[in-house]
Amino acid sequence: MARHLITSALPYINGIKHLGNMVGSMLPADVYSRYLRQRGHDVLYICATDEHGTPAELAAKEQGLPVDAFCAQAHNAQKAVYDGFALSFDYFGRSSSRENVEITQHFARKLNENGFVEERSIRQVYSPTDGRFLPDRYVEGTCPHCGYDKARGDQCENCTRVLDPTDLINPRSAISGATDLEVRETKHLFLLQSKLQHEVEEWVARHEGHWPHLASSIARKWLTEGLHDRAITRDLDWGVPVPADTWPALAAEGKVFYVWFDAPIEYIGATKEWSDQDPENRDWKSWWYDADDEVRYTEFMAKDNVPFHTVMFPATQLGVREPWKKVDYVKAFNWLTYYGGKFSTSQKRGVFTDQALEILPADYWRYFLIANAPESDDSSFTWEHFTATVNKDLADTLGNFVNRVLSFSKKRFGEEVPDGGTPGEPEAKLGEEIARLLAEYEDHMETLQFRKAAASLRALWSAGNSYLEEKAPWLEIKTNKDGAALTLRTAMNLIHLYAVVSEPFIPATTAAMRTAFTLPDDTASWVTADEAKSLTTVPSGTPFTVPPVLFAKLTDEDLEAYKERFGGSEG
Ligand code: MF3
Ligand code: ZN
Repeated sequence: MARHLITSALPYINGIKHLGNMVGSMLPADVYSRYLRQRGHDVLYICATDEHGTPAELAAKEQGLPVDAFCAQAHNAQKAVYDGFALSFDYFGRSSSRENVEITQHFARKLNENGFVEERSIRQVYSPTDGRFLPDRYVEGTCPHCGYDKARGDQCENCTRVLDPTDLINPRSAISGATDLEVRETKHLFLLQSKLQHEVEEWVARHEGHWPHLASSIARKWLTEGLHDRAITRDLDWGVPVPADTWPALAAEGKVFYVWFDAPIEYIGATKEWSDQDPENRDWKSWWYDADDEVRYTEFMAKDNVPFHTVMFPATQLGVREPWKKVDYVKAFNWLTYYGGKFSTSQKRGVFTDQALEILPADYWRYFLIANAPESDDSSFTWEHFTATVNKDLADTLGNFVNRVLSFSKKRFGEEVPDGGTPGEPEAKLGEEIARLLAEYEDHMETLQFRKAAASLRALWSAGNSYLEEKAPWLEIKTNKDGAALTLRTAMNLIHLYAVVSEPFIPATTAAMRTAFTLPDDTASWVTADEAKSLTTVPSGTPFTVPPVLFAKLTDEDLEAYKERFGGSEG
């Protein structure tokens, strides 16, 4: 069986992410990882915080912390939220780790040896007051297009136009406000991507047929526009230092690599961190080096990340001329919007992941987000849709089924799965239906179609409800006690089956469902087609308990309160 390497785009360190970030990378990667593990595959799911670059420096400055201390604390804060969402990373690393520094420097040296790196002089804004070159976004001034007076040197937030710092009227330093800015000549390393264009094209051509449309179309677009040589160093205090053995002068000037150069390398770096922290862990290199025949590598990301993962990082990997594992399958997502508008970290619009967990347990969010993942198009988060989905699918279709069956059985037959009755036509029909839906569900999971997988799961839950309505054990019990026992026993088997197969979506709830039954040896990690057909895994006589209500029904007052707190329809 193949080993599965899975990564989700590394969340940037500055601040807690919103629900759109969660559904566009980490959550589906977690669902997929959990599914594959349950099916018996060897899975390594890796993620990390992306810690370098200007936004980290700025955020640290805003909080009055040294940037390393800021990152350490911000990493822990994000990690706590991801634990709260039950994300099952095998390792959640940090791009500022020693491991990533080493591997990034190694990549740079190799690219240089192979003729893909060149030192070039560029003209850049220098601030004598601050004693440093200013990255584009550290230069502020008036936008020449719209007159907005807080435009940044890389982009005007007001009119969204992309800018060059020298375009700004009355430029000043964002650090000190100094206006005595100069343009000075300075040297940077350039990655000669233009020399790799042909190879990247060949590599993409070999893979894009297997990628989903969103990923392959974006890769194509970038290749058609052509790969340009790019500066891969910056004048910052915080980053992977340019290695002094190879570029002594640049190292002495304190140049570091550009954040987008070292961030994807951290997928490898974090795997090494994972290996280093526990000698029991398999050698990190076995996942990444010369691993093409053994490892299947799947990446998860939002669409703005696709060019970096399908074109630029592969170009880097190809240029290194060592057999580093490149991505096999790129699962990309569109945007989740908030009432049709943008979730915005800077404008604090939408729902942040920590706030979400303050309101309701993770499983409510996990299910809703995956069932509405922006897969083929953008999708919109609204509180109306969220509360309606929770009530219908989670509270009524699943939660109520579980509680109704177990409480009724306990009341009429006691605290063991009831004996009696012989499965007949309705049970055979139900078994066929469950086996068919399970196969459909597996198929959607294997092909990473998450909304469809959620729909199949929902259909599995609904099939149980239909069976229960049809058999109506609360009436049956009056005339045919054995028949009612059979119905309830079959329904309890459905509960156990749901507990097993719903785990990738709602792991905390399924744990509660599963432990409702005291089975002597409940190690099953998946359900076979035969088990789905016969529905007899939980035999009569098995002790059970009635778990507390699995999903609370959300009221109109709840809905109003959410809209009040987070803002409703203004898109
Ligand atoms: N931090 C980036 C973002 O939030 C994603 C980095 S993914 C990696 O868009 F591959 F570069 F690590
Ligand atoms: Zn503007």
